[in-house]
Amino acid sequence: MKKRGKFITFEGSEGAGKTTQINLLKEFLSARNIEVITTREPGGTPLAEKLREIIKHFQGSEIVSDKTELLLMEAARIQHVQNVIEVALNDGKWVICDRFYDSTTAYQGYGRKMDLDFIRQLNAFAVGETVPDLTIYFDLPLEQGFERTRKRYADKEVFDRFESQKIDFYRRIEQGFKDIVRNNNERVKLIDASLSIEEVHQQICRLVNEQF
Ligand SMILES: Nc1ncnc2c1ncn2[C@@H]1O[C@H](COP(=O)(O)OP(=O)(O)O)[C@@H](O)[C@H]1O
Ligand SMILES: [Mg+2]
Repeated sequence: MKKRGKFITFEGSEGAGKTTQINLLKEFLSARNIEVITTREPGGTPLAEKLREIIKHFQGSEIVSDKTELLLMEAARIQHVQNVIEVALNDGKWVICDRFYDSTTAYQGYGRKMDLDFIRQLNAFAVGETVPDLTIYFDLPLEQGFERTRKRYADKEVFDRFESQKIDFYRRIEQGFKDIVRNNNERVKLIDASLSIEEVHQQICRLVNEQF
């Protein structure tokens, strides 16, 4: 049987640099002959991507309950873990995932003020044993993240449901991620995402090197 791969998740606000750094880390690992797949949440399977589309872009007069959003997130996660992440890890591949269950704790728990203990149980139910070996939290002042993503939306009329929320919501999420880092200090590592792309990459490589 192949040696199980490592599971690394990237967390942090929009614009923090996750996608940029996932691509660099993938190159770094591939150059070391490590087979690696990159994926994202919500999403990562055909069904989960459909749920992502509903979660992020559902429009119409029907109010989408926060509870519905939470369960759709977890349903997407179950599909993703079972059909993609577990399969790859068992096949010896490394998995780098753009957001994972810490985002549910931060956005639905802290951001939407839903019961944190219930979310912890739901997350555990969804992922089972498939807990990340390493989670990297991109620490960046909110204003800098907004500034970096401004260009992304310059030609779009509407932000999606998450991006149009108010600043207090984002402050609570930021606080949530800080609590998550503090409460899971073995698994979750904070990096300074305000530095240059190359400097951030170096911080990530140092953390990932401990996984070999
Ligand atoms: N360290 C950095 N310094 C300055 N700009 C950055 C840095 N990392 C990424 N960017 C830029 O900021 C924007 C958002 O980066 P991205 O990787 O898409 O963030 P995320 O995936 O976390 O939303 C992109 O335009 C990207 O080129
Ligand atoms: Mg991204």
